[in-house]
This record gives sequence, structure tokens and C-alpha cells, in this order.
Amino acid sequence: AAVAQGEVTWQSPSNIALVKYWGKLDHQIPANPSISFTLDSCRTTTTLKYSKKEKHSDNFEFELYFEGEKKDSFRPKIQKFLERVEPYLPFLKDYKFIIDTSNSFPHSSGIASSASGMSALALCLMSIEKQLDPEMDDKYFTRKSSFLARLGSGSACRSIEGELVVWGFQRNIYGSSDLYGVQFRDEVHENFRNYRDTILLVDKGEKQVSSTVGHELMNGHPFAERRFQQAHENLDRLKKIFRSGDLSEFIKVVESEALTLHAMMMTSQPYFLLMKPNTLEIINRIFKFREESGLHLCFTLDAGANVHLLYPEKEEKETSEFIEASLKQYCQNGQFIHDGVGSGASKL
Ligand code: PMV
Repeated sequence: AAVAQGEVTWQSPSNIALVKYWGKLDHQIPANPSISFTLDSCRTTTTLKYSKKEKHSDNFEFELYFEGEKKDSFRPKIQKFLERVEPYLPFLKDYKFIIDTSNSFPHSSGIASSASGMSALALCLMSIEKQLDPEMDDKYFTRKSSFLARLGSGSACRSIEGELVVWGFQRNIYGSSDLYGVQFRDEVHENFRNYRDTILLVDKGEKQVSSTVGHELMNGHPFAERRFQQAHENLDRLKKIFRSGDLSEFIKVVESEALTLHAMMMTSQPYFLLMKPNTLEIINRIFKFREESGLHLCFTLDAGANVHLLYPEKEEKETSEFIEASLKQYCQNGQFIHDGVGSGASKL
């Protein structure tokens, strides 16, 4: 089919890793498998307008808008993404694009928008491919969207679907692949249904370590090999935990993964210390409150100072009260975002 012009909009969520992806090989192949909860309200909305070029040119033609304003600072990232996906989307140089993006979360909140942003754009591009090939089935659409999103930002491949997504080959996880994320389809105990994530905004500054630099720190890292092996082991443990519903075991794996991610950064050359004093205050408060209350809240971290507070839906009321009374004071301007597990991207 020939398509002269059109417009498509996708909304895609962020995700939070439970077993962390940290370290990669060429072509965005992860050094270890990871698993994440897809989030719900932290989303990027991207509209892609496309029109056929009047005459062929051998470059990508695109304009970028972020929250309504022209944003040329994103150009190099998008240019690189288009170069990487072009072998799989041969129509790209036949069209001109206008990419218009906005986030549901405040910008410069320290929340990485690469997962939601790259997955939204990948889905928009796939919608064009589907126009050109209307026979395309849904599974192919989803899988290739994840494959393309991975080429933009590794963790973005885990944002297409809900609610738990595995990326990276793991022997006993059906369908798992280094090339795209797949839904975790094993039995999941009801304790994990509708799990909550409150993102505590400790430091809204720019990330000190870009993830590109971060992953490279694992090349030649003295603990790399053992770490990659440990990620497989922790994914194995989580698989059993999801089945049994054992929240105490869940906490042990998830918190250890977060601290290991930071330990890897602290023990690389060069080394980075991304936790802030308030990150540690919050973590210590969580330990103490968990001990006293017998509740099952726990923390995880990305490559930054913000804390993701994870807790079961059943304990939402008590945990929210604890956040207001004890954790909010350690957040920048008292800011946090209540989110939870979601079902993946949607077309608007
Ligand atoms: O997707 P990237 O290249 O920005 O890497 C993300 C890495 C972590 O967020 C720290 C961990 C993860 O698995 O999401």
C-alpha cells in the first residue's frame, strides 16, 4: 500500500526494573537478563506526523517538539535511533516526520524518560509500517516494537506490554530473548497483583551518569562476571517468589538488586556515588518502619538518587500514611508520584 501522509499517537509508560540491566554488548544486547514492572501513570505521549518526501534524499528529515516547543537538543539522540532502526524500517528515508512528545511527569524530575519516550516512538514507527503492510499480525507488531525500542534505549523494550516483562535470554523463562522484551507468563500470586510504586523525588537534577557511560563501566569491571551470573540467579529466585507470593523473599531480592546496581557504580573505574544523603535517610526509615509495622514495603533504585517505594495494594493505606508522615520530608520540595503496575502502551 502507498501511504502519502498521516498521523499517529501512542502513549507508552515507564518501567521499574526488579532485576537490573547493567552492562551491554554490541547492538544493545544485554549482558544479563532483567525483569521489570511496567508502570501506569508515568507516561510519554508521542504524536508522529509523516508525509512522503517530494523528492528522495538520503538523509532523515524530522522536526522535534517537546511539550509544544521546538527541541533541537534531542536531535542527536533521535538521529542515532533512526540510523539504528533504518535497516528494519526501510521506508524511513521516504518520509518527513514531525515528532511531538510530552510527559505525564514533571520534566527534570530525575525520572528517566528514555524508556517511555523511545518505546512510544518505536510504536509510532510501527504504526506506519502496519499501514504499509495491513496484514501484519498483532504479535509481530508488539514484538518488533519492543525490538526497535531496545535499539533506542535498552530498558525501553520492557515498556510495550504489562505487567511484568522479561528482557534477556533466561533458560527457564519461556520465549525470553536478548532482542526484545516478553511478558512474564508464569503463575503470579495475587499478592503481586496491582503492586504499587511511589516514586520519591530526592534529587531532580540531571543524571550524573548517562546510561551509555554506565553500561560501559561494566566492561572490564572486576566483578562483572559474577554480577551477570547473579542476575540470572535472582531472576530464578523471583520466578519462584511470584508463584509462592512470598513477600519477604521478594523484598530481599529487590533491595539487593538495587544496592548491587549502585555497588557496581561505586566499584568501577571511574567510580560514581549516585545516592544522596536523603536517599539513605529514606532507606533507613523504610528498614525501621518495616521492622516496626510488619508491612512489606521495600525500595528499589535506578541509576540516580530517587527512590521507588514498592508495596502491595493491600497495604496502600498504611504505606501512604507513612510516606506523608516520614518520607515526604526527604523529597525535594516534598514531591513524590504515586504510581503502580500498568498494562503497557496504548494507541490514542
Ligand atoms: O535503558 P538504559 O540504557 O537507560 O539503562 C537502564 C538501566 C537501569 O535503569 C539502571 C536498570 C534497568 O534495568 O532499567
